[in-house]
Amino acid sequence: MPEMIEYSAVTAVHTIWLAARSQGIGVGWVSILEPAAVAAILDVPADWKFIAYLCLGFPQAEDDLPDLARKDWEQRQPSAVVLRR
Ligand SMILES: Cc1cc2nc3c(=O)[nH]c(=O)nc-3n(C[C@H](O)[C@H](O)[C@H](O)COP(=O)(O)O)c2cc1C
Repeated sequence: MPEMIEYSAVTAVHTIWLAARSQGIGVGWVSILEPAAVAAILDVPADWKFIAYLCLGFPQAEDDLPDLARKDWEQRQPSAVVLRR
């Protein structure tokens, strides 16, 4: 199952995210990128797969409400809407 290396990378991102938040550090996962352009900029081997571009830093402000909800782009949905039995 060679795809497990990608799952492992995502699990590492998740772990970084939890560790960062526990220290008050915010994490932004930027996915609105062109993978081929990023690969060219970073000059990585052709067989590398771009998975995550992360921004970490201390936020200027914190809020319990996600940014998407604050800006009225998306609202939290009941779990029954997104989970199926
Ligand atoms: C897989 C994944 C991809 C994401 N891609 C983007 C992105 O391209 N642009 C963006 O603004 N946020 C993106 N996010 C959301 C942010 O990384 C992050 O969740 C958010 O900024 C947290 O702040 P908030 O709690 O105030 O919403 C992504 C999150 C995930 C899990």
